[in-house]
Amino acid sequence: MSEIIVVGSINMDIVNHVDRFALPGQTIQGRLTEFVPGGKGANQAVAAAKSGASVRMIGAVGQDSLGEELIASLKQAGVSTDAVVKKEGASGMAFITVNADGENEIILAQGANGKLTASDIPDFSTFSDVHAVLLQNEIPWPVNKRVILEANKHRIPVILNPAPAMPMADDDLAIIDMLVLNETEAEFISGDTAKSPEKVARLLIGRGVREVLLTLGDRGCFYANRDGHEMAISAYQVQAVDTTAAGDTFIGAFAAARMNGMPVRECLRFASAAAALSVTKRGAQSSIPSKAEIVRFLNEADH
Ligand code: RIB
Repeated sequence: MSEIIVVGSINMDIVNHVDRFALPGQTIQGRLTEFVPGGKGANQAVAAAKSGASVRMIGAVGQDSLGEELIASLKQAGVSTDAVVKKEGASGMAFITVNADGENEIILAQGANGKLTASDIPDFSTFSDVHAVLLQNEIPWPVNKRVILEANKHRIPVILNPAPAMPMADDDLAIIDMLVLNETEAEFISGDTAKSPEKVARLLIGRGVREVLLTLGDRGCFYANRDGHEMAISAYQVQAVDTTAAGDTFIGAFAAARMNGMPVRECLRFASAAAALSVTKRGAQSSIPSKAEIVRFLNEADH
C-alpha cells in the first residue's frame, strides 16, 4: 500500500486562551490553559492519516514524559512512529496564545526537533511505495535538504510547507515539486508584496517549483502549476474558535486526497473542508477531523 512520509517537527503545544493578546510589558489573565500535541510535521501526519492515508512520521522527541505523550498521539491517529527517534533533553514545545477571534501567536522552543540530523533519516530504498514526502521548516534545513535529495533520487514527489518562512535559493526551489504556503510566507520567499495570488504563484513557478498552492485563510486557496493550470477555491465559512493547525490540516488532507487519485479541484475542496472543520475546535491535533467528518461536511455544504 502506498504511503506518505512526513519528516518534521513534533511539539507539545502549551496553549493559553485569552480575550485579547497582551501588549508589550502588560500582564493579563488567561481564560484556559491546555497541553495539546502539535508541531507542524506531526499535525500534517495526523491530518493525512485521519483523511485515510497510510502515514510514516520521521522526527525527534525528547527523552521526557512529553515525548511519550507525543508519540502516543501520533499512534492513536494511526501514524507509524518507528522512525521517530529520541534525543537527550526536552521535546519541542510551542507556547501559543489564542485570542477570542481564534487568532494565535506562537513561540517555538525547538528542543529535540533542532537535534534531528541527516543521519537520522533512513535510506529511502528501505521504503517500498512512497506517494509523497511532506516537509516543513521546523527542523534544521540540512535535514530537509537531505530528505529532498533522497526523495529526488527515488523519484518521490516532495511537498514543502516553508513555515516558518526562510529565504530560499532558486536551486532549492528547483528540487521541490510543490510548495504549499500562506500569503506571508509567499511574500517573504518571493519578495513580491503585490498581494496577488496569481502573480506570486507564477513568480515562484518561474523560479523552478512545479506546483504552488497558496492558502488564503478565509478567502480560500489558489493553485497553479508549471503547465499553466490555475484554479481558485473559496473557503467554507465557519465560526472560528482556534485557527491553530488549520494550514497543517489543509496540507495533510490535500496530500491524502491526492494519494487517493482525486482530481486537484476535488483535493482542494476536501482540504478546505478539513481546514474549516479544524478551526471550529480548540488545539492542534485535537482539532483535526476524520475523513468521515470531512465527507459529511462536504455533503451538507453541497445541499
Ligand atoms: O501549525 C501549528 C503548529 O505550529 C502548532 O501545533 C505548533 O506546535 C507549531 O509548530
